[in-house]
Amino acid sequence: MIYFILFWTLINYLCLNVNSFVRVPLQRDHYASLEKSINAKENAGNINGTVTALKLKYGERSSGFIGTISIGTPKNEQVFNMVIDISNTALWVISSECTTEICRNHNVYTYEWSKTYESNDRFKSIKDGKDKLLGLGAKDVVQIGSVSVKSVPFYLVKDLPIDFLLEKTYDGRLGLSLPINDDDETILETMINQGTLEWNLFSLYINRTKEPNFTYSGGELMLGGWNTKYFNPDDIDYIPLSKPGKWQFTIDRITSAENTTGVWCKSGCEATVSSTYQFIEGPAKEIKAIYQYIGASIDFPLLPPNTPIVKCNQINQLPPIKFHINKKEYILESTDYVVQTGNPEYCLMALIIADNSSDPWKIGYRFLSKYYTIFNASEKKIAFANLK
Ligand SMILES: *[C@@H]1O[C@H](CO)[C@@H](O)[C@H](O)[C@H]1NC(C)=O
Ligand SMILES: *[C@@H]1O[C@H](CO)[C@@H](O)[C@H](O)[C@H]1NC(C)=O
Ligand SMILES: *[C@@H]1O[C@H](CO)[C@@H](O)[C@H](O)[C@H]1NC(C)=O
Ligand SMILES: *[C@@H]1O[C@H](CO)[C@@H](O)[C@H](O)[C@H]1NC(C)=O
Ligand SMILES: *[C@@H]1O[C@H](CO)[C@@H](O)[C@H](O)[C@H]1NC(C)=O
Ligand SMILES: *[C@@H]1O[C@H](CO)[C@@H](O)[C@H](O)[C@H]1NC(C)=O
Repeated sequence: MIYFILFWTLINYLCLNVNSFVRVPLQRDHYASLEKSINAKENAGNINGTVTALKLKYGERSSGFIGTISIGTPKNEQVFNMVIDISNTALWVISSECTTEICRNHNVYTYEWSKTYESNDRFKSIKDGKDKLLGLGAKDVVQIGSVSVKSVPFYLVKDLPIDFLLEKTYDGRLGLSLPINDDDETILETMINQGTLEWNLFSLYINRTKEPNFTYSGGELMLGGWNTKYFNPDDIDYIPLSKPGKWQFTIDRITSAENTTGVWCKSGCEATVSSTYQFIEGPAKEIKAIYQYIGASIDFPLLPPNTPIVKCNQINQLPPIKFHINKKEYILESTDYVVQTGNPEYCLMALIIADNSSDPWKIGYRFLSKYYTIFNASEKKIAFANLK
């Protein structure tokens, strides 16, 4: 019986957080709980830069963090809950031309209602997690935080996969990856080009509260600057990016607390950061060696193979894991890499084996929530600063 309960709690957990393609029953409309964006200047500390900020709310369906923007004129009439996505460039929303039931619970953009809509007959293939969508180009005014940005390129999507019916509650994504081609212009670039912002960078704060049980309670996205309410500016150490068009860098090595035992990714490895994925993913060989070092079991009865399980009552004895990046150490404590699933006895490790061992490590917001992250687009650098 205990196995059965564990099985279902874990399956449920994995479905919610790892496999976005598994359908999960929902009882209530999650929209009701989404907060409207507010201008972060109201509660900001010492802000450096000409900035605009969005208060973020944690997406309940593991889509990450959601900020609200409005598109069109008059402003604040067409409002959208957007997932902040640092792995893609496109800003897209659902079009009112989607008339199927799938779009019924979403906010959709109606171009006829906006005085400032500009058409643009360009199509773009857009990634939404594992789904591929087709977007039709447009431009309009976007109200983000306290500012209105003119002629922001964005894409309208009218065919959505079935998981948008219940599992995905957002209306679109706001991409903040690094552009490679001209048609990849992000809203950050538009703002730089129009002189709205001085510095071509943005910062992300994710609030992971210790009580109860390390839950995410939102965060703050700041375009064009940073907010020293959350971190000490003396702590900024920039890491150079290793690949154009991506927030990707090199990890020199990964070690246990002592630098000698358990050394992984010995000759360096590549890593990307993700604001929409919670866990940390790496190649099978390295991750399995970490499981062995930690003592995680990966052949637990009834669970899918390679599901890493540790005893919850051992969390406090498990060692930290250190990521050595650009001559600095970034430490994951056991409370960061172990996940409480609702089962009192067995816990899940947040280090997961990637499907493809040649992919870079994927560093999700279990890691990002430990730091204030500055994404410096003009200098192609990233910084993780310790939180206050
Ligand atoms: C703002 O950032 C710039 C560039 O890093 C720095 O030179 C300056 O001292 C900072 N100002 C404040 C008030 O922190
Ligand atoms: C993080 O969220 C908690 C709960 O909402 C709140 O009490 C706390 O003030 C937040 N922390 C910061 C630094 O904003
Ligand atoms: C937090 O974890 C404890 C056990 O560690 C559990 O009893 C409690 O129900 C959890 N609370 C929440 C809100 O998940
Ligand atoms: C591990 O190496 C770092 C430098 O990468 C050093 O600062 C630290 O003192 C070393 N820790 C131990 C326990 O040797
Ligand atoms: C794994 O990734 C590499 C490089 O990105 C790619 O060439 C290869 O086809 C992928 N393998 C599978 C099985 O998807
Ligand atoms: C962006 O990064 C570069 C390189 O470290 C740094 O010199 C510059 O000050 C950064 N920009 C801002 C506004 O901090």
